[in-house]
Amino acid sequence: MVPMHQWIKIKAPATVANMVCGFDILGFAVNNPFDEMEMRLVPKQAGTAPITIINVDDYQLPTDPEKNVAGAALLALIEEFKGNEKLAVTDLAFEVKINKLIKPGSGVGSSAASSAGAVVGANYLLGNIFSKDDLVRFAMNGEKLASGVKHADNIAPCIFGGVTLVRSIFPLEIVALPSPQLYVTIVHPQIEVRTADARSILRQKVLLKDAIKQWGNIAGLVAGLMKSDYDLIGRSLEDVIIEPVRSILIPGFDTLKLACKNAGALGGGISGSGPSIFMLSKTQSIAEAVEKEMHQLYESIQLPHHTYVTTINQNGVEIVA
Ligand code: HSE
Repeated sequence: MVPMHQWIKIKAPATVANMVCGFDILGFAVNNPFDEMEMRLVPKQAGTAPITIINVDDYQLPTDPEKNVAGAALLALIEEFKGNEKLAVTDLAFEVKINKLIKPGSGVGSSAASSAGAVVGANYLLGNIFSKDDLVRFAMNGEKLASGVKHADNIAPCIFGGVTLVRSIFPLEIVALPSPQLYVTIVHPQIEVRTADARSILRQKVLLKDAIKQWGNIAGLVAGLMKSDYDLIGRSLEDVIIEPVRSILIPGFDTLKLACKNAGALGGGISGSGPSIFMLSKTQSIAEAVEKEMHQLYESIQLPHHTYVTTINQNGVEIVA
């Protein structure tokens, strides 16, 4: 266990969920952007909460642990920790400082970074008593608070790093997937799309012909990643179920996607529930050409935006000091 009062520093990466065709099951972590957090253990005073959240950014997110995604994830961890026989310590409290560099509501796993960062940090402070799968289970409580549903397609890559497949949530089964070198370009148009809203507009039934296309693409994408077959990856980045519904929330989506592909991107689509859009490319120079297309389009319609050219993060949440 890390001694009481000693702060640790945590870096929690942004993540791209769905990977176009794998709604709620596929995702990957990126090296930029990321959130910074600090945590420490302190003795718990009688009658006080076991979690104190201190926001050191300007987003004014709730500090009540039950209303904050990091708090919700930590409460789940504490609940299970209470039953831990190896460490009969019940009078501990966590202090968490959160500096969000991933804008909430951007579609690149902002809530997952807070939830995952908090539970990985807590586990480190407690002497790494929980497995990564346990940590994903705890962190999903943050996602439930943010979007109304437990899903792990941001949480899993945030904790494991790399590309992950959530084969099942109940019971939890996460499969880490290999990937060839890929460059990722992300554009975040400065509009907010709430995940809960982006989920509420989805149709609850799909046509069998669409399902067949979709599972062909998911299998093709997984095979392409495992075989380092860039063309197969590109062809499989197609979503016939979710994207047609959600893309209407994102200005210029179809034009931008076409322009990026013409610039050489393998393919891409909505990042998570949007509004960010991501594109995968084989080389850094193509990823930068894709970024230029993104700038051009959003400048032409005067939509403020941020872009990132980055790579897949292989480590997940890291304790950096
Ligand atoms: N799979 C989720 C969705 C990710 O698309 O709604 C949101 O963070």
